[in-house]
Amino acid sequence: MNVKQPYVIAAIAISIVVIVVIIFTSSRKEVSKEEVGAVVADDRPDVPKAVKDWPHEDLKLGQISGVSVNSAFQPVIFHRADRVFDQYTFNATSHFQHIDKGPITEATVLTLDPHTGKVLGRWGDNIFYMPHGLTIDRHENLWITDVAMHQGFKFKPGELEPTLVFGKKFQPGSDVNRLCMPTSFAIASTGEIFLADGYCNSRVLKYNALGKLLKVIPSKDEFLSLQIPHGITLIEPLDRVCIADRENMRVVCPRAGLYSLHGTKDPPLTIQEPDMGKVYDVSSKGTLIYAVNGPTSSLIPIEGLTIDPQTEKIIDRWSPPEGFGLPHAIAVCPNGSSLYVAEIHPNRIWKFELVAPK
Ligand SMILES: *[C@@H]1O[C@H](CO)[C@@H](O)[C@H](O)[C@H]1NC(C)=O
Ligand SMILES: *[C@@H]1O[C@H](CO)[C@@H](O)[C@H](O)[C@H]1NC(C)=O
Repeated sequence: MNVKQPYVIAAIAISIVVIVVIIFTSSRKEVSKEEVGAVVADDRPDVPKAVKDWPHEDLKLGQISGVSVNSAFQPVIFHRADRVFDQYTFNATSHFQHIDKGPITEATVLTLDPHTGKVLGRWGDNIFYMPHGLTIDRHENLWITDVAMHQGFKFKPGELEPTLVFGKKFQPGSDVNRLCMPTSFAIASTGEIFLADGYCNSRVLKYNALGKLLKVIPSKDEFLSLQIPHGITLIEPLDRVCIADRENMRVVCPRAGLYSLHGTKDPPLTIQEPDMGKVYDVSSKGTLIYAVNGPTSSLIPIEGLTIDPQTEKIIDRWSPPEGFGLPHAIAVCPNGSSLYVAEIHPNRIWKFELVAPK
């Protein structure tokens, strides 16, 4: 016993040292795993989670063609009331066929409470014939397109007369003064105006803040061809304007040329995957894009897409538990905490919270 005791003590001491070393190294490993985990979590996009029972009440709306969010974080929607866009709306030369019905008498622009979905404000009665796009800029101006009128408008908040008018009323055309069923606006913080025009011309017009035409996208020497630019958004940190190039089933992001003309010859970023479907609208958050597609084929699900334009990849897919019907427009709110999707069949508006991935 006496002889073995020092060995036992030594063995115990060595064991303790080994255990301490194991605990120490494993706890260090834990920490470093968490560090790696945190880096990965930061790289993953926020996930849209549908808010249940929002809006609380049935708003009894027509086709909701446009949605945007004002700086009070309130969603603002643009709807067609009793009008429906179908194969009889336009003839073969893209002329609107129901001018005799007059403008929609109901309010077409509704501001909603972000918590309850209750209607807080109504505007835009007796002006529009076939609503399409709605964009609210940081100064609360409303940028609206009406496909029937072949026009785009800038309305200052609360005013009934537009301060800027693009295109000629009921006159489809492809010169620089006429539009043809324009779809949507995107407005830069520097004031430049991007107008997607539209169902027939398949071009994007870039104007300065006063409405002077600066550029037509694609330009003649540009290797880019659009087929119904249906939605448009800016990614200012990347100096890109991203277009829902609907019939080409892709999103393309040419240079916006906001800060300098350097790089305007860079090729567009192109996001096109086989099951992407026809992309109806896009809205940016930081350097990412949230998009919705529409009916394409029975094999391609109608869903929301989260896109990283820099890697030209779809990085997430999402939809409400009940599924989408026919989503038409999407808007991320100014601080990126939620997004809204407007549908034209059934006519409804969805709110999604943007939550960090688990
Ligand atoms: C389409 O309608 C417009 C006006 O309603 C008319 O002037 C034009 O000739 C029509 N085009 C065709 C192809 O019928
Ligand atoms: C964004 O705004 C909403 C509504 O005001 C607010 O509840 C939310 O906390 C804000 N989120 C961030 C990230 O600032």
